Amino acid sequence: MSRDSWRFVHVTDIHLGSPDSYRFTPAFVDNWTTAAAQILALAPDLVLVGGDITRDGNLNPFEFASSREALEALGIPWHCVPGNMDTGNKHTDRQGARDDRDDVACNVTTAQLEAYCDGIGPLTWSFVHRGVRFSGCYEIIQGTPLPAASELETWLASLSTLSPARAHVMLNHYPLFTDTPDDPPRDITDAVGYLDWYFSADPAQRRHLTQAYKAAGVTHVLSGHIHCRRPPLSFDGLTYCFGASTAFAQWADRWPDGDARLGFQVFTVTPSGIDYAFEPLAQVSTRTDGWGPGGHPKPDARRR
Ligand SMILES: [Fe+2]
Repeated sequence: MSRDSWRFVHVTDIHLGSPDSYRFTPAFVDNWTTAAAQILALAPDLVLVGGDITRDGNLNPFEFASSREALEALGIPWHCVPGNMDTGNKHTDRQGARDDRDDVACNVTTAQLEAYCDGIGPLTWSFVHRGVRFSGCYEIIQGTPLPAASELETWLASLSTLSPARAHVMLNHYPLFTDTPDDPPRDITDAVGYLDWYFSADPAQRRHLTQAYKAAGVTHVLSGHIHCRRPPLSFDGLTYCFGASTAFAQWADRWPDGDARLGFQVFTVTPSGIDYAFEPLAQVSTRTDGWGPGGHPKPDARRR
């Protein structure tokens, strides 16, 4: 790397969890240890953390302390947005097609957002580093009745008044779409379309956020949540980067270009642009110890 170039890393869905919880997977912690060593070796200027830093921060706010400790241990400035497992999910007014979860009960609440803020930091932030603006927000609360959604609106409007930068990187948790920015509405009650609903923003949210991002000069939108990376996608002047998880893979067969390997994204800022690379984990843990179910178990399934 030349002397006038520098790096930032996008890591997401690290899902560290806690042995004090009703479920715990030591392999996820091992994988983070591997990722952290690889991040340190790359010596990035900063680390963007795309949410789901806990396994169940939405239920166990105590998990924020150990996730914070793990991120602080990098010794590199890091900036985080919440994920749905840290707080709660995208809002729905109805139960979806899967009977192993209670979708309405998973709706993100003010109390969950406050617990995240207490444990980790603000829900929105923006700063400039070496000529590049970095912003982050929990996009999926947009348009909900939550007070934090009103605060998000104020913040989105303020972004367009900030000083311009050579690039503007927006950190989100949910992708704005699963196929294209013109995705149709997804039906939570449709067994086939459930995951498309679960893994992306609704069209109204997408339109609103995209408009605000464009007004603010956003160039890159980084997301997590799916746990399946895709090579960067460009639509109408924006580059969308769906990030890999370091913990476990999901939805490996959703796209022909989907890459379910575990790892993280490395961006190199050069005088002529921002280059993208995927850094797969050098080693994936094969441990099988641990306990508890996956997904969003109902309360009666959350037992040790
Ligand atoms: Fe996740």
